[in-house]
Amino acid sequence: MLYSIETKSLTKSFGDVTAVDDVSFTVESGEIFGFLGPNGAGKSTTMMILTTLLKPTSGQALISGYDVMANPKNVRQNIGYVQQETTVDEYLTGRENLILQAKLNHIPKNEIDSRIDEVLDLIELSDKQNESVVTYSGGMRKRLDIAGGLLHRPKVLFLDEPTVGLDIQTRRKIWEYIKRIHDEFEMTIFLSTHYMEEADQLCDRIGIIDGGKIQVIDSPKNMKNAMGNEVISIVIEESDSGDSFLSELHKIESVNKINEDDSKLTLFVSNGTEVIPKVFQISSNIGIKITSISLTQPTLDDVFISYTGHEIRDDDGTFNRKREHAKMKRLRA
Ligand SMILES: Nc1ncnc2c1ncn2[C@@H]1O[C@H](COP(=O)(O)OP(=O)(O)OP(=O)(O)O)[C@@H](O)[C@H]1O
Ligand SMILES: [Mg+2]
Repeated sequence: MLYSIETKSLTKSFGDVTAVDDVSFTVESGEIFGFLGPNGAGKSTTMMILTTLLKPTSGQALISGYDVMANPKNVRQNIGYVQQETTVDEYLTGRENLILQAKLNHIPKNEIDSRIDEVLDLIELSDKQNESVVTYSGGMRKRLDIAGGLLHRPKVLFLDEPTVGLDIQTRRKIWEYIKRIHDEFEMTIFLSTHYMEEADQLCDRIGIIDGGKIQVIDSPKNMKNAMGNEVISIVIEESDSGDSFLSELHKIESVNKINEDDSKLTLFVSNGTEVIPKVFQISSNIGIKITSISLTQPTLDDVFISYTGHEIRDDDGTFNRKREHAKMKRLRA
């Protein structure tokens, strides 16, 4: 079978850092496939290899059957790539940016205008097309970026964190455009994100990536189902009896799995209402104080915790927030 995207043991090292570590996956034509992972997981590095901007250290990557190393030109003709950082020129108008992009992509002169009209209409920027990008919001700039990636009607569209730093309403709007692009052009879409909800909303299948390695690939639905049907989150006060509390919890019959992250315990269970009273009983027997407890349906957040053992955030949360903030400022500037 000819896949839209195929990687075989793809690996990229920067000195001691293995940014992409033995990554193998396939994406079928017409699929929306998502790479879900925290900062530094290896998402952008993988995308840069797939879009011929970076050479892998070892392994192979094929786009529509073309090898990124052996046939980079064919690969580039088949793909659109919208980078993580916005690339539009602030001092040009929206339309001028697209004209530039169309020329870079060697779109025939007599088709440039109609193609631009088409993508502007699709992402609803026709009204603002003759204003300079300086006046655009972060969301509008991102939409213009996406429009630029569509002009040459690629078979495979790469979107690297298409909604990072945008507010939730703007993100939802961008999800709508991505779905519309997918339906209208019947494109294969490969996107990366660290938003669970985004992957859940958009993707047919998701690969969870952490530390350069793929932890699991499946549909959002299967991932959630594999967790057991309910999740109990417990926060406890620090205590010497923490370990015995944990081992007693493991003995409860309908508890499938427990993850421990500092004082927060995440229990994957098949019958939550049965488990909760037992949790309280054990805690009072052992003398552990529960600060909070909640019962929810599993989300992709829970799936991520289950496969990687930690929540989807940087180990150093401060740095992460700063970085996010810097990105946002850049988008708004
Ligand atoms: N040019 C480079 N030189 C050295 N190290 C690099 C380089 N590019 C990436 N890395 C490292 O490779 C790892 C993966 O980075 P990458 O940018 O692919 O992650 P990411 O998943 O896209 O993260 P983010 O969500 O922050 O965009 C990180 O440890 C990063 O520091
Ligand atoms: Mg990245």
